Amino acid sequence: MKDIFEKRAFQLSTQFLLIGGLMLLLSPGLLFADCPQNRKTPAAPQEFLKMQNPLPLNDKTLKAGETLFQLQGKPIACKTCHGEKGNGKAESGFESTPPPRNFTCAETMKALPDGQLFWIIRNGSPKTSMFAFPSLTDDQVWQLIHYIRQFSKQ
Ligand code: HEC
Repeated sequence: MKDIFEKRAFQLSTQFLLIGGLMLLLSPGLLFADCPQNRKTPAAPQEFLKMQNPLPLNDKTLKAGETLFQLQGKPIACKTCHGEKGNGKAESGFESTPPPRNFTCAETMKALPDGQLFWIIRNGSPKTSMFAFPSLTDDQVWQLIHYIRQFSKQ
């Protein structure tokens, strides 16, 4: 009888150790989950992935991008979801699954070609709250792309 009890206690303690170990392994992933971001966004078509931002990176372009991002995105400004600092944590309290892209995460952003960003801004990411912005001109989308890339360059 005592044997069985000890055996059971041993089994339980190994289970606890296993669960504890797993939690330890997972916790850095949970703490830093937003960089690199878990990203399931569909890839843009090949011809878009090859595109590069045709606009010069200068103050004028950045200012135009900033205005669109912070104030004028229609129907709502990008900052409403992506946050003023572009970190995906909006002051508006907006939350969604999947969460808005964290533009301050260099690891995630470096892996994304200009044309990928262009495609998603223009067409949206299906089944997510990232809707399409068809009313933006091509130049406006490129201005936005220069601007959002600045968030991961500090
Ligand atoms: C209603 C909330 C919302 C608004 C407004 C919004 N976004 Fe997003 N955005 C999201 C979400 C959510 C995702 C993540 C989508 C996903 O995981 O596929 C995202 C993803 C993105 C991405 C990442 C694309 C990729 O391939 O990873 C870019 C770029 C982007 N948004 C740009 C913008 C720009 C520029 C604006 C303003 C013109 C804007 N967003 C406005 C919610 C929003």
